[in-house]
Amino acid sequence: MSKTLLNNLPSFTKARRRYPSIVQNLKIEVPSIVSAKLSGKFFLIKTFGCQANVRDEESMAGLLSMANMRRTEEEKDASVIIINTCAVREGAEQKIFGQVGNLKGLKTNNKDLIVIVAGCVVQQEESLAKLRKTFPYVDIFMGTNAIHKLLDLIALRITENKKVVDVPSDDADVYENIPVQRIAPHKAFVNITYGCDKFCTYCIVPYTRGKERSRLPADILRECQILVDSGYQEITLVGQNVNAYGIDLKDGTTFSYILEEVAKLGIPRLRFITSHPWNFDDEMIDIIAKYPNIMRKIHLPLQSGSDEILKLMGRRYTVKDYLELVTKLRARMPDISLTTDIIVGFPNETEQQFLETLKVVEKVNYENAYTFIYSPRKGTPAALMEDNVSREEKGERFNKLKALVDSQTEANAALYVGNEYLILVDGYSKKDTSVLSGYTESDRVVHFVGTPDLIGKIVKVKITESRVYSFVGELVNE
Ligand code: 5AD
Ligand code: SF4
Repeated sequence: MSKTLLNNLPSFTKARRRYPSIVQNLKIEVPSIVSAKLSGKFFLIKTFGCQANVRDEESMAGLLSMANMRRTEEEKDASVIIINTCAVREGAEQKIFGQVGNLKGLKTNNKDLIVIVAGCVVQQEESLAKLRKTFPYVDIFMGTNAIHKLLDLIALRITENKKVVDVPSDDADVYENIPVQRIAPHKAFVNITYGCDKFCTYCIVPYTRGKERSRLPADILRECQILVDSGYQEITLVGQNVNAYGIDLKDGTTFSYILEEVAKLGIPRLRFITSHPWNFDDEMIDIIAKYPNIMRKIHLPLQSGSDEILKLMGRRYTVKDYLELVTKLRARMPDISLTTDIIVGFPNETEQQFLETLKVVEKVNYENAYTFIYSPRKGTPAALMEDNVSREEKGERFNKLKALVDSQTEANAALYVGNEYLILVDGYSKKDTSVLSGYTESDRVVHFVGTPDLIGKIVKVKITESRVYSFVGELVNE
């Protein structure tokens, strides 16, 4: 008898397909065996990667708390440990192997511990095979489209006494009514789209998260209304590509529409991540400019400043298009804060093409930029391209870009000093509990002395010192 129950195995061939999705209104029930074995016990979830993974953690936590389990940060206390993985670059994936490897001792000492590996790494055929081989003690491998089945998979593991693998690549629907236990008390992520259809040639996401599918406006607005009613101060609309929202609904619904409808609910702060420069139309700019509760901070991935490389990346815009968009945004909202993602060392990138990227960075002057060395992802078109750029060269380019980005970040941070900003107070500072910490509208962290009753409120703070990636300030009493 097989010791593993293989419900679904990942397949890049299937993951590449695009077909209509269905909205499934789930009715989640806790299997009695899960309640019997796990009620009152603890779970621990370690999440890596983007906001989509963070939001998945909140759903998994919601499901486990339906079974009356509680969260812990201590591995030794946990009865269920979930490693929620990221596959966007090789480095992220390697980290996962380290994390899962570290659990071996715990599992040897506690046979009842249920170890689960979830997220994007398991959605890759080869990585899953390697994980299964290297870590035979993992109880459940579950894919990004199997989150809603978490309790059933745990029940299977217990009743069948077999390992369980459930990683579907062709089952990407929109699942509603999954319970949620939010990580932050005042700030919430709300999914609007899942997956991605852009297929940028370097990117694994369209394979690991599947086809682009939008939630229905009514479902999004219901979730947001509950957040507003329960006193949340900030909502971030989440999608790999938020401004493609609605395309698959095929009824004319757009991102601008949902953005405006959520803004009208009156949440004090509304954000969205991530927007693709290609789908960023004038209507979106109008809506952002019209509603002061939509934060003037936009993450606008550039990826490269060379038209040739952008074309090879499949990004669908030119440098000129990108710079025109930046000009339009700044003309309408001079105080807008822009951040970006940039990849250096895409296959065969020439020195000249790299210098063009530096030029665009100089022109745009980002508040902050996330910079990466290109990492080949098996299954993507770019991974098949021959590459004549050496590791050393890539490293040198990365350092040059990083130096430029750092100098911009530092100079832009210095501009905050002496000015007053509205801060949403998150809680105590990680380093010092006598100090509060919160975020500006541009999403910069500020530490200041204040009383705990301010937590969850929006207050005015004067910035007194820049530490580049954070600020020190003083509460302004009005
Ligand atoms: N190599 C390096 N960086 C990548 N990113 C996505 N795929 C890769 C890759 N294969 C970067 C992009 C994206 C960010 C989330 O990660 O810049 O915007
Ligand atoms: Fe990846 Fe491109 Fe989709 Fe972003 S838009 S998730 S980079 S394929």
